Amino acid sequence: MKKIAVVGAGTMGNGIAHVFAQKGFAVNLIDSNASALEKAINTIDKNLDRQVNKGTINAEDKVIALQQITTFTSIEIGVSDVDLVIEAATENSEIKKSIFKQIDSFAKPECILATNTSSISITQLAAVTARPSKVIGMHFMNPVPVMKLVEIINGKETSETTSNTIVELTNQLGKIPCVVQDAPGFIANRILMPMINEAIHAFSEGISDAATIDQIMKLGMAHPMGPLQLADYIGLDVCKNILDIMHNGFKNDKYAPCPLLIKMVEAGKLGVKTGEGFYKY
Ligand code: CAA
Repeated sequence: MKKIAVVGAGTMGNGIAHVFAQKGFAVNLIDSNASALEKAINTIDKNLDRQVNKGTINAEDKVIALQQITTFTSIEIGVSDVDLVIEAATENSEIKKSIFKQIDSFAKPECILATNTSSISITQLAAVTARPSKVIGMHFMNPVPVMKLVEIINGKETSETTSNTIVELTNQLGKIPCVVQDAPGFIANRILMPMINEAIHAFSEGISDAATIDQIMKLGMAHPMGPLQLADYIGLDVCKNILDIMHNGFKNDKYAPCPLLIKMVEAGKLGVKTGEGFYKY
């Protein structure tokens, strides 16, 4: 693989584009919103600067990486000549299905279609395409340039060749692939989100304040961020969406989002991105 496309220029999309460009891949970064593309390039520029300042890359590597990225507002043009498309759009299954249909109709027949979804069924997304054996989950973690894990999710129809190709590609990126089967929340969020939800329950019951809950998990469990700080960082709307998908998918109330989480999302307190969640930013 030499050329890839990333659909969606938000936090995950720009991080994925950053990592591929830095490893020498040509990247078409696609978003229907031109200002989102401009913002994404600025973010990648700043994050590459962090690496230059740390000495992990030099100033020339930064310039080369940025030159690898071309932006597009059209899916039709952006995916036409690439070997892999990674969809990193909004975490909503109807939006993702519609994007997958478009990508499938404009990408080369041999192109692999991956999704960075954090919990939506790969099998369902694959079913809207004419190439289900070439559809796979490639779940990166935020911040993408820093986190080593890529959770690789095989849908029901994903071929062994597709899965092996994506495992090899993940290694080439300097990341560590962990392969799992398709189920709501896969593994990462099936375990992470109930922990975050439980922390919100404990907070809402007044068992302790947010900072103490986070401190307990940081000091006692060696987590880099406590669960409430991490929820703010991920986005409370994203946490609620993932819990809803697991709650509906497993039909098990243990995944039901805590009422306080629902209220905070309704109030627009989504965490870092809106300036307030469990903490103020
Ligand atoms: N790009 C490049 N480098 C970055 C970066 C970015 N976006 N963000 C941070 N860094 C680098 C910093 O430059 C710094 O490098 P050095 O240590 O070599 O100097 C390093 O990462 C640590 O950053 P900071 O010093 O700014 O801050 P920190 O030590 O508090 O670490 C953190 C920040 C890496 C985010 C750390 O707090 C952490 O690991 N938090 C947990 C993150 C996590 O759990 N992510 C998964 C979320 S779940 C998810 O993404 C999936 C889902 O489906 C919901």
